[in-house]
Amino acid sequence: MKSLSLLAKYKHFKKIDKIFRVRSNLLRYKKIRLDKNERLTDFESYFIDKIKNKINSNYLNTYPEVEPLYKIFSEKFNLNKEMFVVTAGSDMAIRNCFELLVRSGDKIITLSPTYGMVDVYARLFEANQVKIYFNKKLELNTNKLIKEINHKTKLIIIANPNSPTGTIIENEQIINILKKAKKFNCYVLVDEAYYDFHNITVMPYLEKFPNLRSIHFNTNGQLFNKYYWEKMTGLHKIKVGVDISIDAANSETYAKLRYPGDWDTLMENFKYIKKIKNLVCLGISMVVQYENYKQMLDFIKLGESLVYNNRYTFVEFKRIRNWGHMDPEEFKKVSMGESITSDERAEFLNILREVEKLRKYNIDHNILPKIRHNLGEFLL
Ligand SMILES: Cc1ncc(COP(=O)(O)O)c(C=O)c1O
Repeated sequence: MKSLSLLAKYKHFKKIDKIFRVRSNLLRYKKIRLDKNERLTDFESYFIDKIKNKINSNYLNTYPEVEPLYKIFSEKFNLNKEMFVVTAGSDMAIRNCFELLVRSGDKIITLSPTYGMVDVYARLFEANQVKIYFNKKLELNTNKLIKEINHKTKLIIIANPNSPTGTIIENEQIINILKKAKKFNCYVLVDEAYYDFHNITVMPYLEKFPNLRSIHFNTNGQLFNKYYWEKMTGLHKIKVGVDISIDAANSETYAKLRYPGDWDTLMENFKYIKKIKNLVCLGISMVVQYENYKQMLDFIKLGESLVYNNRYTFVEFKRIRNWGHMDPEEFKKVSMGESITSDERAEFLNILREVEKLRKYNIDHNILPKIRHNLGEFLL
C-alpha cells in the first residue's frame, strides 16, 4: 500500500487509491464464465496438439520476437509496418491510448455502456468523460456524439461491435465522426475486438485520417536550422519534441566523437531551435565513454543554457553498448570497464555521484533540465 500512495504523487495516478480490484476466493475453473467474453467451447484436440508441437524451449525462456509478426501484418493488411503495435490484449492498447493522449481534465467521449475498462481508465486518468447513452431499444444517436466533439475533446472511444450491447455503428456514421474529429484534431479509438462477429472495420480509412498531432525527432542537430525548419511547414502546427545526440561538451571532443559534425554549427543551430514556439520538449544526450566522461557536468550546463520559457528540457546520459562494432578489449576501456586505472575510476564515480545529486536536486525542486541516466549500475 505504501508504494501505491507513493505512486499517487504522480499526476496520472492521483486517483489510484480510489480504484479497487474486487478479489474473491471463488475459483470458477470448469464452469462457464459468462461475464468474461471467453470462448465457451473447447478447442479441437488436433489444434491444441498443433500448438504443443510448435513449442520448444526457446518459446519459454526468451522474449518473443515481434518483428516477424509486424511483417506478416503489414503484408496481410497492405499497410506500413509502422501502423501496427502489438500489445498484451486490446485492453493494453486502450490503456496506451489513455497514457499517450489523455491528461487530467481532458474531455473524452465514450459510449455507455461499453467495455468496462474504458470507464476505469477514464477515472484513473482523471478524464472529463462524456458518455453517449444507448436508448431502451439499444440504439445509439451518433449525431449526439458528433455534436459533443469540440476543441476540448482529446479522444473518442467507440467499440464496434460494442460490448455488452452487441450493437454496430455502420462505417458511414463512423466516417462522419472521423471527419468532425479531424476538424478538431482529436483522436478516435475504434475498438474492433469483436470484428469477427460482424466483419466491419475502419482499416481502409487509416491512411486517410492519420490525425498526426505530435512528432519526436532524434537528430544530431547539424541541419536543424532556420532554413530547413521553415521548409517543413507541416511541422509548424503540431507538437514537436527533439532529442539531439551530442556526446560532448566541447568542440575538441565533439570533433573526435561526432566527426564530421561541426560544434560551432550545432551551437548556432541551438540559438534558433531553442526559440521554436511549437517545441514541447528539447533534450540533449551523451553516450558516456572514456573520451567524454570528464565533461558530464559541463554537459548539464549546456542543457541549462537550453531551458526556455519553462519548456520540458532534459539532459540524458546513456551507457555505451557494444553492438559488435568494437573489439572487446578496446570496449573495456571505452565503456569505463576493467581497463581504466583506479584513479580514473574514482574520478568517474565522483562525477557520476555529482550528476546523481544534481538529478535528485532538480527533481525535488522542480528545476529544469531534468537529468536522466542509465548508469545506476556503476553506483551500486
Ligand atoms: C469491446 C472490448 N474491447 C476490448 C476488450 C479487451 O480484450 P482483451 O482481452 O484483448 O484485452 C474487451 C474484453 O472484454 C471488450 O469487450
